[in-house]
Amino acid sequence: MSDGRSDALVFFGATGDLAYKKIFPSLQAMLKRGHLDVPVIGVAKSGWDLDQFRARAQDSLEKHGGLDPAAFKKLVTLLRYVDGDYADPGTFLALRKELANAQRPAFYLAIPPALFGMVVEQLTKAGCTDNARVIIEKPFGHDRESARKLNAILLETFDERRIFRIDHYLGKGPVHAMLFFRFANALLEPFWNRNYIESVQITMAEDFGVQGRGAFYDATGAIRDVIQNHLFQVLANLTMEPPVRTDSESIRDEKVKVLKAIPTLDEKSILRGQFHGYRNEPGVAANSTVETFAAVRLNVDSWRWQGVPFYIRAGKCLPLTCTQVLVRLRRPPTVYKATNVVPNHVRFRISPDVTIAIGMMTLSPDKDDVGLPIEMVASQHPRAGEMDAYERVLGDAMHGDATLFAREDYVEEAWRIVDPVIAANTPIHEYEPGNWGPSEADTVSPPGGWNNPMLAGATPEEVKRQ
Ligand code: BG6
Repeated sequence: MSDGRSDALVFFGATGDLAYKKIFPSLQAMLKRGHLDVPVIGVAKSGWDLDQFRARAQDSLEKHGGLDPAAFKKLVTLLRYVDGDYADPGTFLALRKELANAQRPAFYLAIPPALFGMVVEQLTKAGCTDNARVIIEKPFGHDRESARKLNAILLETFDERRIFRIDHYLGKGPVHAMLFFRFANALLEPFWNRNYIESVQITMAEDFGVQGRGAFYDATGAIRDVIQNHLFQVLANLTMEPPVRTDSESIRDEKVKVLKAIPTLDEKSILRGQFHGYRNEPGVAANSTVETFAAVRLNVDSWRWQGVPFYIRAGKCLPLTCTQVLVRLRRPPTVYKATNVVPNHVRFRISPDVTIAIGMMTLSPDKDDVGLPIEMVASQHPRAGEMDAYERVLGDAMHGDATLFAREDYVEEAWRIVDPVIAANTPIHEYEPGNWGPSEADTVSPPGGWNNPMLAGATPEEVKRQ
């Protein structure tokens, strides 16, 4: 439930990478849509002044999506900047002054989690937190224990209703569209269960490496970076029961139930890989055993899904960048002459394009004992002006709508599932960049094998690599 719109946005880490790549472009987009008219205060310790901060905003917009002169002119009037150390109470007194009459500020902590405690304490002491919201970025801790500690720190000052944990995957239109597609089409419901579905696989492939984030990535790895959060959210959208109401808590209740039904993973249910060359990346340990690829098998032991295996794989330096779900149905009994019947499937593509495809068998027009697998495909490329994930989640947080944010109990369940396999430090298998992970990944592979996504308009060379 919303308690009114935030009347100021304060972001800590304002001179950092996330602000540069995501926050400024989102602010500009909100302005263009008429969704932002409150002061935006950046806080950082860079020795900058407001002019330097504005120049940074301009540079960010020019590099990330393009600067819109009219929106930027407006942004400049809203921007404020406070420079100072987070340990220094003076920084927060200066912030209090900039907040002026704001009654319900939103504090976006785009800073390392280790600093959350200090910043929240200083905000409280400076009298900034009454009626305020706090927005934080994943990862929420690095295991269940640390997530609990982090939550305890935040909950000392903010009640759960005022804490917004960003998982930007939830802000992606296609991730949300998947849920809508499930519940707005009666067609799916009769077969969307263990009686008809044989397996489900989710692939998140990226054709790039760690992109200068070696130090962060080497303390994180693929499971913590994208599986425990982004891909579990995709899984929850695929498997949750219809919510009893459409308010944020009813929806988030159903998601938590999905995670509760997933048994904790064991060592046999995971395969980890690392791309050749990763250890030479700046910030990465020369003997690192951190995974840049992981394939995971899990179960959702609910009434609807028990017995259906779910597979998730994610990796850096794979042949292409694409996130896709493939739901395979059970093979029908063979009653017809054609013997080459492959199971039906439903395919959702989340990026780079949005695709919903249904795979079926038809009879070959040439031979009446040969089946022909076909796919009915509906596909749409992102359109200019479409809301980006960060714009959506920032806007929602400022409106107090928690639907697209991870709740405390959800985060803790997600860690419960992966904690033991992360701690087990299972063997790491090397793969060459541009391949679909290590060949050993086939040991954790769905019935019928992994479906390697192909991009529409793929070159013959790309197709050959599949
Ligand atoms: C981030 C991860 O959360 O999500 C990155 O830290 C990953 O490693 C990114 O590349 C993927 O998100 P998107 O929106 O670029 O597909």
